Amino acid sequence: MVSREPARINPAAAGMPRSGIREIMDAAWGRADVIRLVAGEPDFSTPAHIVEAAHAAAMEGPTGYVASAGIPQLREALATKVRERNGYTVAPEQVIMCQGAVEGIYVTLLALTRAGDEVLMPDPAWPNFLMMARLLNLSAVTYPLTEDAGFVPTVETLERLVTERTRLIVLNSPSNPLGSIIDSARMTELLAFADRHGLWTLSDECYDEITFDASFGSPASIAPDRVVSVYSFSKTYAMTGWRIGYAAAPAELAPTLAKCQEPLLSCVNTPTQFAALAAVSGPQEVVAAMRDAYRARRDRALSVIEGSPLHAFTPRGAFYLWVDVRSIGLASREVAWRLLDERSVAVAPGTAFGGGGEGFVRVSLASSEEHLTEGLRRLVDFAASSVRV
Ligand SMILES: Cc1ncc(COP(=O)(O)O)c(C=O)c1O
Repeated sequence: MVSREPARINPAAAGMPRSGIREIMDAAWGRADVIRLVAGEPDFSTPAHIVEAAHAAAMEGPTGYVASAGIPQLREALATKVRERNGYTVAPEQVIMCQGAVEGIYVTLLALTRAGDEVLMPDPAWPNFLMMARLLNLSAVTYPLTEDAGFVPTVETLERLVTERTRLIVLNSPSNPLGSIIDSARMTELLAFADRHGLWTLSDECYDEITFDASFGSPASIAPDRVVSVYSFSKTYAMTGWRIGYAAAPAELAPTLAKCQEPLLSCVNTPTQFAALAAVSGPQEVVAAMRDAYRARRDRALSVIEGSPLHAFTPRGAFYLWVDVRSIGLASREVAWRLLDERSVAVAPGTAFGGGGEGFVRVSLASSEEHLTEGLRRLVDFAASSVRV
């Protein structure tokens, strides 16, 4: 018998970096005294009419498998939502239900790229983009988002990074962790850049309904044929644990995405799809109320920081405050750890979102105003007592 080396774990999976947000979350876990400003999820409960719709579906059915692209009435309602709220037209067949935006982004990358392809991704950014690139053996080329450019991508920078091997660009507006929004003039330039280089655009629009001014627009309303837009119920309707989102894809791509859902998940949880149907077709005042609460917290948070050694970018969307802690003179990971150990406040270190996050921490506004105010006061106090004179 020929002896063989034992099978090894796929290095792409084993070597995938762990989320730097989880590191702090896990350390804060089980400590009752900690003020948690770390997680990216609403502190609101899912509105009752949405929960009731899932309950009715679970009691009365259907509870079996459904089509891998989703139930037709939900895809139809979402095609209407995309037309009315995102400003472009898709047929219901172009809407693919996903297990959260995270899986929608993964299946899109899977369908559009091959191992070794280069993909342009933001830095700082939601860390899962890079993890997915690693799992799919893609070469992630990060483009910096800097304060002097308003934390949005510039064509000038992208032109320096694009090569013959680049296949796709990821855009995330409103941005996690920055809260920046790409306005329509910049978006038009970015789509022209993508077109010049024959790239697909993957637009993560998870926070499309959490915006504080009128600057947000969906890129597919400008270039519908080369943009895949991914949306989520998690943030809009406080449904993070239900695991549902959707992709709106060009007609050319949608059947491939639908087909790929079969081996990945067969279909999204059926009662959850009925909950999502109630969410999108029911009263939207719940969304407005949460958005208003995030805006009020943002303003409160900025007022706590004003006049301190810290400085924060004013978010235009999403529910995060990106705080410049460079005046403290410590690496951002050390700021996060010491804040947890010495002041019992959990925030995410900027470096959890990429090398471009050094010198910053991300504070979640999805926490009660009381916790947010006290947590930020402690951060300000920590900064004031650490700043070198
Ligand atoms: C930018 C961004 N994209 C995608 C997601 C994933 O959302 P979902 O819960 O729908 O998978 C998140 C969640 O934090 C996010 O911040």
